[in-house]
Amino acid sequence: MQIQNKFTMPIGVFDSGVGGLTVAREIMRQLPSENVVYFGDTARVPYGSKSKDTIIRFSRQIIRFLKTKDVKAIVIACNTASALALETVQAETDIPVIGVIAPGARAAVKETKNRKIGVVGTEATIRSETYTKVIRSHLPDASVIGKPCPLFVPLVEEGFAKHSITEQVIDIYLSAMKDTDIDTMILGCTHYPLLRSKIMAYLGDRVHIVNPAYETAMDLKAVLSEQGISNMSGNPGNYDFYVSDAAEKFTKFANSILPYDIATTQCINIEEY
Ligand code: DGL
Repeated sequence: MQIQNKFTMPIGVFDSGVGGLTVAREIMRQLPSENVVYFGDTARVPYGSKSKDTIIRFSRQIIRFLKTKDVKAIVIACNTASALALETVQAETDIPVIGVIAPGARAAVKETKNRKIGVVGTEATIRSETYTKVIRSHLPDASVIGKPCPLFVPLVEEGFAKHSITEQVIDIYLSAMKDTDIDTMILGCTHYPLLRSKIMAYLGDRVHIVNPAYETAMDLKAVLSEQGISNMSGNPGNYDFYVSDAAEKFTKFANSILPYDIATTQCINIEEY
C-alpha cells in the first residue's frame, strides 16, 4: 500500500453524476501526476432542479465522504453545486475547495470584446445568477444573458450528443440567444462541453465558447502550488471512481469520455455520510 503524504494525497472531485468527468479529464490532462478520487452522485442526479438547501446537504455529505479518502483539496466539478453550495462548504472545510463558476466567469471576461456574455446551465444555476454576479465583479457593465437548457443533460446521458434531435433542442433553447450580439458564451453545466461542437456550429464563429473545465484545472494547479502540496513525482496519477448508484452505467459512460478505460467504479451509500 502506498503511504500518503501531503503531495501524494488525492484530489477529490465531485459532481451530481457523470458530467464532472469533463472537469476530471482536464485535471488529469493538466496535472498528470495528481491522484484523483471522483464521486458522482448518480442516485440523486439531477441537482439542477433541486433547492439550495438540498444541494448544500448533498455537498456536505460528499465532502465528508471524500475526506475519508484523505483528499488534500476538493474540486466541485458541478456548476449547480458550485453556484449554490460553494461558499457555504468552503467556510466549513479545512482544505481548499474550488468550484467551476469563478474560473469560467474569469475566462469569459478575458475573452469578451463587447462585454455581452451568454450563459447556459441548469435551472438552479441560471436562477442563482452566480455567473452574472461573478462576471460583474470583474466587469461591472457587462450584460449577461442566462438561459436554462435542462434537456441537454438527458440528451447527453442517453447518448444523443451527436443526434439530429439535439440540433432541434439547441435551436429551441438558443434561437433567442443567437439573435442577440453576445460574443462569448459560457457552457455553465458539466454536460454541455459534450455538445460543444453542435453549439459552436449553431452559434457560428462570432461567438467564442468557454468551457470552465480548462480554467478550473489551471486554478487547481495554482492553489496546489501556493499551498506547497503539488505532486511533483512525475509518476502517473491513480484514479478511483465512486458513485451512489448504477456503477456499471457510470463506468460505460466514463470510458466513452476519458482517454483510457477505468477498471471499476465502486458504489457507496452516500446517505451514511
Ligand atoms: N452537474 C450539473 C451541473 O453542472 C448538471 C446535471 C444536474 O442537473 O445535476 O450543473
